[in-house]
Amino acid sequence: MLPQELIRAKRDGQALPAAALREFIQAIASGQIGDAQIGAFAMAAYLNGMDDAETVALTEATRDSGQVLAWDDLDLPGPVLDKHSTGGVGDLVSLVLGPWVAACGGHVPMISGRGLGHTGGTLDKLEAIPGYDIAPDQARFRRLVKEVGVAIIGQTADLAPADKRLYAVRDVTATVESMPLIVASILGKKLACGLDALVMDVKSGSGAFMPTHEASLELATRIAEVASQAGTPTTALVTDMSQPLAPCAGNAVEIRETLRLLRGDAGDSRLLEVTRALAVEMLLQGRLATDRRDAEHQLERALTSGAAAERFARMVAGLGGPADLLERPDHYLAAAPLQRAVHAEAPGIVQRLDTRALGMAVVELGGGRLQAGAAIDHRVGLSEIAAIGERVDAERPLAVIHARDAASAERAANQLRAAIILGDTAATPPTLIHDAIRREAS
Ligand code: URA
Repeated sequence: MLPQELIRAKRDGQALPAAALREFIQAIASGQIGDAQIGAFAMAAYLNGMDDAETVALTEATRDSGQVLAWDDLDLPGPVLDKHSTGGVGDLVSLVLGPWVAACGGHVPMISGRGLGHTGGTLDKLEAIPGYDIAPDQARFRRLVKEVGVAIIGQTADLAPADKRLYAVRDVTATVESMPLIVASILGKKLACGLDALVMDVKSGSGAFMPTHEASLELATRIAEVASQAGTPTTALVTDMSQPLAPCAGNAVEIRETLRLLRGDAGDSRLLEVTRALAVEMLLQGRLATDRRDAEHQLERALTSGAAAERFARMVAGLGGPADLLERPDHYLAAAPLQRAVHAEAPGIVQRLDTRALGMAVVELGGGRLQAGAAIDHRVGLSEIAAIGERVDAERPLAVIHARDAASAERAANQLRAAIILGDTAATPPTLIHDAIRREAS
């Protein structure tokens, strides 16, 4: 099918044949098709949608547009598993989950991204660790996945290259918010990692990528459905992002929190609960646990014995970071020059938070990017962020700002006061896990 005929068919609301979609996606990857036709296709798909069969075909074509990782030759003793998230604020789940699942027998080749909009990026956080190499060669990456069980690195140029072009065009043609294009984009990249099973964390709430809970639930359902039809058993959880998941947001501050959680110093927390729920699903999907109870027991043991922390330490050292990061975090993680507690104008109980605004406050402090490719300041961010239901007063601040100078701290203080809404009445903390959609491979 000629590209213009395929665009015409989608423009007129027809379902596209799988073979035609595959040819079109391959032509995007090889550069045979220009941005005008990619943009027209994206708009036609945005306006007229795609059914599940088309979305599966688009996903598989995106996955196959570059290198698809294979692990068979390594004779791994356990399944290859991964998690993907739609992103959030104070969301350091990946940093704890990967080593935790590895300590229970999973192999986790996690390809992560940088901060996007108000959301933080796992790669940016890892780069707060001196020496950590997010772009190792293939041999090193594979060796770590085999021997340590986890390696968190950045996307390589030859992984789903069609998505890179399609996404860049969507970004400037008002077509990002298309459900089938989002599903194929996320899954095309993840399924190129040669997974035995996938778990997806779709966020819902004021810091989520999707605008409503209904949209988050629809994305979770379609992801699980399409991935399973493309041959990868997938569970999607819809989890709360109506407040930062950890009590901190930023890069070095989130690495510190990761170490506290892995060492068992942070006690139970919202972040640990969501991470545990995702880990349970990974162990079940990967057949590493007989049932939910067994999965929970294994995870508890891996955390309290220090096995999960040890996997994190070995991953960091294996990728060029310091071997004693867990023992001496203050020696390696740079602190911001200025730390300032911000108090509310009058005492009150936290009713709700504009989580997106908190994420943008971190970006403006220098912890994220205002322009693609810009350098970031790993030292800045927020800690001790008050949670829904907590009382703040002259003693308990709204949060502590980590800033590079007084002017940026002052701006962030104003943003914090506007983003954390107080009242006089008790407020119930939101449910953490809203929905779970489980699909076997079909
Ligand atoms: N994340 C992706 O990778 N792709 C999308 O289309 C949206 C979010």
